[in-house]
Amino acid sequence: MKKWLLILILLVPLSGVAKVAKVNEIEALLAKAHSMYKNEKAGANADYIPALAKVDSELFGIALVTNDGKMYTYGDVDSRFSIQSISKVFTLALALEAKGADQVASKIGVNATGLPFNSVAAIELNKARSVNPLVNAGAMATVSLLEGDKENKWQNLSHWYNEFANTELPVLKSIYQSESETNGHNLAIAELLKSYDRFYGDVKDNLDIYTRQCSIGVTVTDLAVMASPFANRGVHPITNKKLMSEENVERLLAVMTTAGLYETSGDWAFKVGLPAKSGVGGGIIAVAPERFSIAVFSPRLDQAGNSVRAQKAIDYIAEAMDANIF
Ligand code: DON
Repeated sequence: MKKWLLILILLVPLSGVAKVAKVNEIEALLAKAHSMYKNEKAGANADYIPALAKVDSELFGIALVTNDGKMYTYGDVDSRFSIQSISKVFTLALALEAKGADQVASKIGVNATGLPFNSVAAIELNKARSVNPLVNAGAMATVSLLEGDKENKWQNLSHWYNEFANTELPVLKSIYQSESETNGHNLAIAELLKSYDRFYGDVKDNLDIYTRQCSIGVTVTDLAVMASPFANRGVHPITNKKLMSEENVERLLAVMTTAGLYETSGDWAFKVGLPAKSGVGGGIIAVAPERFSIAVFSPRLDQAGNSVRAQKAIDYIAEAMDANIF
């Protein structure tokens, strides 16, 4: 037999074995992270939106999507919860694509506030009234910056979210209603921005769209799929659609790195070293550029509004996969 043929025959099954081993490794890693932190009881559900307080605090799910489009899941991966602030990333992504990075930087601002997500001081302390698109003020202003009347804007936004999720995402009515009834603080922030000419449309309409986007219902698997184009230079690894330019992905990841976990973003970058974004619904997404996206869901939050178990699980998995970008 020819030597090259023999080598080929030997190599083909070997590469198959290596792949299976890798698949098992990731699956085992998610299971390990789940078992390590499933008894972690620190933190509490968000309750300033009353419907969030009613979500089962014990839910815990993990999902990871690699850049070759493979999906790994463990735990409560079918539970639907509200995306909350993780939505801010996707609305920022749309604004970067539709309006351009310069407009986002000049009309909203991209510097980290270093302050809580619902801070009014962040607006008052900054003379340019710049706010970050990943905190409430900047996220509402980003919605206001998008083109279209109220219904058009919502249609465009939900279409954009669905492209990332590769499915049609619902709005969770009970969350939307609960948040709409209690979002006086966000209304005040939006009015304050408007008074400084840093809000670009009708306050109530844009606040309503923002509230709807925060009430979108996702599973942890949806979230990992949604974050996957950010790990893959803007190309969706499952649908192969090019959703964003590489430059805008870079900018988005920069803002996630500096502001994705609010006032504890620096601690997160120091410890874990991955661009990430949290939501008060209990989800966190993180991105390992060129490699994978991960999402974890568990409702109990720390003081800054970030899921305790999700931070621990992502930290553990990122460390094991040697994913720190720094
Ligand atoms: O506007 C709010 O307060 C919520 N809809 C979203 C806040 C949030 O998720 C902060 N995240 N950790």
